[in-house]
Amino acid sequence: MSSQAHARAGDWCILTELDGISLASVLPAQPAPDLIRMMDYLLLKHFHMTCAALSGGFFLVRGQWMLASSPLLQRRWVKTAPHIVDSLLLASAIGLVAWSHQYPGQQPWLTAKLVALAAYILLGAVALKYGRTMLIRAAAFVGAIATFGYIVAVAVTKNPLFFL
Ligand code: HEM
Repeated sequence: MSSQAHARAGDWCILTELDGISLASVLPAQPAPDLIRMMDYLLLKHFHMTCAALSGGFFLVRGQWMLASSPLLQRRWVKTAPHIVDSLLLASAIGLVAWSHQYPGQQPWLTAKLVALAAYILLGAVALKYGRTMLIRAAAFVGAIATFGYIVAVAVTKNPLFFL
């Protein structure tokens, strides 16, 4: 009897048969090592993407607080958390580069990402710390957001000139 025979709407069930054929008889007992490696790589890539989203999100929030001259910007955790996230972002980037054997200098899209990352860090520092006037800080903030968007677009298209 199929495992689905007693399933009702809303029940959890595990599919063990399809069209009367037992899935256990057609699926391998162990996933192939290549498949496991691929899934591990995808796991690291998704970790990298999560760190990228957190890094961009943190930066947006801190930029808003900077524009509003909010004292929240001086909180201890607000100063340390982005450093932790950014370190994990860079560490996962190094892991992906080494694992996939795609290196900056050899792959133009990775070279562009690295250069743009340096620009993003510089603009971010001017926006949140070193900008002398509010106008300079605001301009650097907009530039940093645009640079971040460029990095994401290059990552997705794997083309540094994706806009042409
Ligand atoms: C602010 C900085 C960064 C952001 C926002 C970012 C964002 C992303 C995103 C969204 C992806 C997934 C792309 C996709 O497959 O759709 C990705 C993948 C990747 N990133 Fe980054 N990244 C950043 C920094 C870096 C740096 C500095 C490097 C190394 C130079 C790097 C190397 C990689 C590699 C190797 C992949 C995997 C490509 C693949 O196998 O498909 N990333 N990044």
